[in-house]
Amino acid sequence: MATDPKPLPLERIPQHVGIIMDGNGRWAISRGLPRLAGHRAGVENLRRIISACVEFGVKHLTIYAFSTENWGRPPEEVKGLLFILDEVLDRELAELHKEGVQLRHIGWLEGLAPSTQKKVLQAVELTRHNTRLVLNVAFNYGGRAEIIHAIRQMLADGVTPDQVTEDVVNRYLYTAGQPDPDLIIRTAGELRVSNFLLWQAAYAEYYAADVFWPDFDKAQFRRALEQFAGRERRFGLTSAQIASS
Ligand code: FPP
Repeated sequence: MATDPKPLPLERIPQHVGIIMDGNGRWAISRGLPRLAGHRAGVENLRRIISACVEFGVKHLTIYAFSTENWGRPPEEVKGLLFILDEVLDRELAELHKEGVQLRHIGWLEGLAPSTQKKVLQAVELTRHNTRLVLNVAFNYGGRAEIIHAIRQMLADGVTPDQVTEDVVNRYLYTAGQPDPDLIIRTAGELRVSNFLLWQAAYAEYYAADVFWPDFDKAQFRRALEQFAGRERRFGLTSAQIASS
């Protein structure tokens, strides 16, 4: 008889998880489907992982949906991904709101179509008081672009060199006010950072899953959280210091 998996240690659940949802294209190709079918399957999987976050007590989830470099993909794939974003906002917003998800966008919003910008802003406004899970959708996002954006804003605001601290920089990032990611998961077996949360991930633990994103299910997610719970995070200190703290 199957037994329930051991409960996850509550005190070791990451507060903030980032996910690089890789492998949609390969998932589709391996089934003889167009790449966009993989992205659609990826969206379906997202629902499962959002529910799992709520169930396991993860409070912030950041998903890498479209990078500043993804504009270079074949035009029909770019068009398809932009369409999927619009569709997700139209189709899933009511359900996400009902589930208590607070939607946020990170990235260069002004680079998207005005109609999409409007939908994103409306979704952010509608869900802003929800507290079960903060879902950051990184769309038209790049870590370097984010840092440049922050520097430009600081200069425009007249922040002087001696006022620049880590706290101040944090306040100028798209993720202002949110905890840094504790755990970054990348699917499809790739071991790259790909310009994702470069500043915020300074002390994040990384986890590489050997399955394509559409196949990364709740059990796989639980495995990532279990492995995270067993890691020793030292933040530059020694094991002995961590043990005695
Ligand atoms: C990486 O797989 C995935 C992406 C670049 C896009 C991920 C997007 C979604 C899951 C849908 C959009 C989501 C929202 C919320 C609008 P890949 O295409 O690089 O896969 P490959 O490496 O196998 O080619």
